[in-house]
Amino acid sequence: MLSQKVRNIAPSATLAIDAKAKQLKKEGKDMVIFGAGEPDFNTPNNIKEAAIRAINNNITRYTPVGGIPELKKAVADKFRRFNKIQYDVSEVTVGCGGKHILYNAMMAVLGECNEAILPVPYWVSFDEMIRLTGAKTVFCDTDKRFMLTAKTVEEKITEKTKLLVLNSPSNPSGAVVEPEEIRKIAELAARHNFYVISDEVYEHFVYGNNEFISIASLNEDIKNLTITVNAVSKTYAMTGWRIGYCGAGKEVIKGMENLQSHSTSNPSSIAQMAALEALNGPQDSVAKMVEAFDERRKLMHKRLNEIKGMSCVEPQGAFYAFADISQTGMKSMEFCSGLLDDALVAVVPGIAFGSDSHIRLSYATSTKEIEKGMDRIEKWVGKSLK
Ligand SMILES: Cc1ncc(COP(=O)(O)O)c(C=O)c1O
Repeated sequence: MLSQKVRNIAPSATLAIDAKAKQLKKEGKDMVIFGAGEPDFNTPNNIKEAAIRAINNNITRYTPVGGIPELKKAVADKFRRFNKIQYDVSEVTVGCGGKHILYNAMMAVLGECNEAILPVPYWVSFDEMIRLTGAKTVFCDTDKRFMLTAKTVEEKITEKTKLLVLNSPSNPSGAVVEPEEIRKIAELAARHNFYVISDEVYEHFVYGNNEFISIASLNEDIKNLTITVNAVSKTYAMTGWRIGYCGAGKEVIKGMENLQSHSTSNPSSIAQMAALEALNGPQDSVAKMVEAFDERRKLMHKRLNEIKGMSCVEPQGAFYAFADISQTGMKSMEFCSGLLDDALVAVVPGIAFGSDSHIRLSYATSTKEIEKGMDRIEKWVGKSLK
C-alpha cells in the first residue's frame, strides 16, 4: 500500500548499523563503534546555556519559517567572515539540520527530466534525495585518492544536467577537492548553467596542508548558481539539535522556505538560540576538536595500512577513513556484518556510498577505542583471510 516513491527508498545504512550496534551495547556487549557520523565531544557549555536561557525566557513559540532574523544575520555574517561569500540575509535560510536543508534544496531545484551529477563515493542520502525529486542521478568517478576533477565532471554533462553535488571535505572518503579543480568546476557550472549544491558541513575538519574553499566565494556567476549548505551539527558537536542553514539566490531560498512552511515550519526555537550562540560565540572548542581528530586520523590510517588485506588512502578532511577491503575477498556487507557479529566492531559497508570494495570507519572516537577496535579488526581479518 506504500507509495512508489517511498518503496524506492533504501533505509540509511549508516543509521541502521549504528542502531544495531547501539542495541548490542545496551544488551551489555562490549562494542567498539566506528559507525557514527558525529563527534564524540559534548556540545560546548556556552551553547547549552543559551538554550536553557531560551527556555527560561519563553522563546518557545513558532518563529519565522526560515529562522529568526538574528540567526539569519549570524549566518550571513559567518558566510562573510569564514567563507568569504557575501550573502544578504534574504539569501540565507535555516532548517532542521543539514539533511533537511539539502532535501529542501534538491526539491526546490530538481524535477523529472533533470539529471544531477554525483561524485562517487557519495554520502548515502544524496542519491536517495535526488531520486525522491524524480530526477536521475548520474554518477561521476573520482580517482584512486577519491579526488574529484573538473574533467570527469565535464564528461557527465548533458543538456539535462541541472545540478552537481559537491561535498568537500567528503563523507565518506575524507577527500578535499583541490582549489584549482573547484575553480574549473565553477567555470563548467557557469558555462553549462547548472546549479552546484556545495555541502560544506565538514569545512572545519581539514588537516595537513589542505585548503578548503567555498565555491560560491569565487565570483558572482558561481555564487548565483550555488547553494552553500552547512549546519552546526558537526562543527559544534550539535548533531541532536537539528539546525542546518544555507546561502543561495533569493528565488531558491524562497522556494525552500515555501516548501518548509508546509512540512516542518520553523526549526526548534530553542535550538535556533543555541545555534545563534554557536555562530556568534567563542570558537575555541572547534580548534580543540579538530586537533584531537587529526591525531585520531593519523592513528587510524596507520593501523588500517598495517592490516594484511586492507589499505587506506590518507583522509584529508572530515572524520572518516574509507578503507579498501578488496584484498580480503569479501564484499562490504559481508565484511561489516561478520565484523559486527564476531568481533563486536561496527563499521559501515561501502556499498551504501557506492563502493562495495570499501568500508567506512569514523574516527570521531577516543584513541583508546580506536586502538581497541583496530586490534579486533586486525585479528578478525587475519582469521577471515586464512
Ligand atoms: C556530507 C553530509 N552532509 C550533511 C549531513 C547532515 O548533517 P545534519 O546532521 O546537520 O543533518 C551529514 C551528516 O552525516 C553529512 O555527512
